[in-house]
Amino acid sequence: KQTNQLDTPGTKERFSSTGFILAAIGSAVGLGNMWKFPYITGQYGGGAFFLLFIVCLLIVGLPVLLAELAIGRAGRGSASSSFVKAGGGKIWGVFGLLSVIAPFVIMTFYSLVAGWTLHYAVLSFSGQLFNNTDFGAQFGSFTGGYMPIVWGAIVAVITGFVVVKGISGGIEKFNKILIPGMLVLLVILMIRSITLPGGMEGVSFFLSPDFSKLTPESALVALGHAFFSLSLGMGTMITYGAFVNRQQSLGSATMAVGAGDMLYALIAGLIIFPTTFAFNIPADSGPGLVFVALPAAFSAMPLGWFFGGLFFILLGIAALTSLVSLLQVPVSYAMEKWNLRRSTAVWIISGLVFLLSIPSAVSMGLMPDLMINNMPVFDFVDFVASNWFLPLSGLVVTLFAGYFWKNVAEEAGLTQKWFRIWLFMLRYIAPILVLFVFLYSAQIIKL
Ligand code: PFF
Repeated sequence: KQTNQLDTPGTKERFSSTGFILAAIGSAVGLGNMWKFPYITGQYGGGAFFLLFIVCLLIVGLPVLLAELAIGRAGRGSASSSFVKAGGGKIWGVFGLLSVIAPFVIMTFYSLVAGWTLHYAVLSFSGQLFNNTDFGAQFGSFTGGYMPIVWGAIVAVITGFVVVKGISGGIEKFNKILIPGMLVLLVILMIRSITLPGGMEGVSFFLSPDFSKLTPESALVALGHAFFSLSLGMGTMITYGAFVNRQQSLGSATMAVGAGDMLYALIAGLIIFPTTFAFNIPADSGPGLVFVALPAAFSAMPLGWFFGGLFFILLGIAALTSLVSLLQVPVSYAMEKWNLRRSTAVWIISGLVFLLSIPSAVSMGLMPDLMINNMPVFDFVDFVASNWFLPLSGLVVTLFAGYFWKNVAEEAGLTQKWFRIWLFMLRYIAPILVLFVFLYSAQIIKL
């Protein structure tokens, strides 16, 4: 009982201040930066899209991030109860439930993709990946088989082991080792990639903006991605906020996390585009870009098995540090609501997530008829979580902090000038843009 008391949000557990920043960067930097960002940048206009993404991070992402952290720290509860404990009416707790359910849903497919990356790391290091150069077929037969389920279980166990150890002994320690480690891997891979013959063309595709390629659709995709990339609308930043020291400046933390997220996306782009250009792989190959197109490049470069292995390990690490933040959201909720011990909450939730990931996994091949709404379960789950839950709970955060929260100024701890700018964004810019993203991505309006 005693450990339970200590571990429940609202009691003594706290991040150290660097530990918190690293954990929040760990949450933000994930498959979104290294798998999704490169392929959507390839599809929606290269450098111009990258710029748009940065603008969205600045005007919508960072204000919402600060709001989530402040709500968490003021409430010191779960992603649902923090709203109420921070001074909101009961109804906000009900709205907050959205962001307790969302991570559950996201985890069921995110952990599968994390498993793919680990499988590909093994394939690359062992050289097996290069025995069959039809990488598309290889990817299809892997994702269509039962191995992704096995890897899903491994990922669930690793994530569970970290979260069971608690905030400072588990999540913080894990990120303190892996975030700097990731930067080392990224820099090695970036140097390898930029120095490939023909690599510089990829750099210029990525960094020189051609605004004629932008469409209204790219703007909405950039905004949706800024949200996903900063881990917003999923209760993760509210939940992490609950463990932040009173002395920590949330404004600076927000800047650090935004800068970290942008830096890792920038480097990921500087790895992927030079490689694709050097080997004449279309930059707009879509979701298969890293699993299908890049292996072709690795197979053709000297020591490709090694660089390929590092690349997939990197992806796996990025995914795991995001998964631990996702898992902590329902864990905080369950510990608070049902007074469960941390370990009980972690293993029940991890087990459930694993079971719920099975339909997604088998929908990719073993049972292709497993469709909801004409989509394989895997795509449907991604669709619903990213396009419905995420913007809706983002909207709840902006409206609460922008209009309904009496102590907002005090809890944000900003200077007068920054506070005014922030409140303006939260009131007038963020909700409108987020609403657009929602209407568009839930396919209620079409462009
Ligand atoms: N930000 C992560 C990424 O870019 O991959 C994904 C994510 C993690 C989204 C945690 C939401 C979340 F709560």
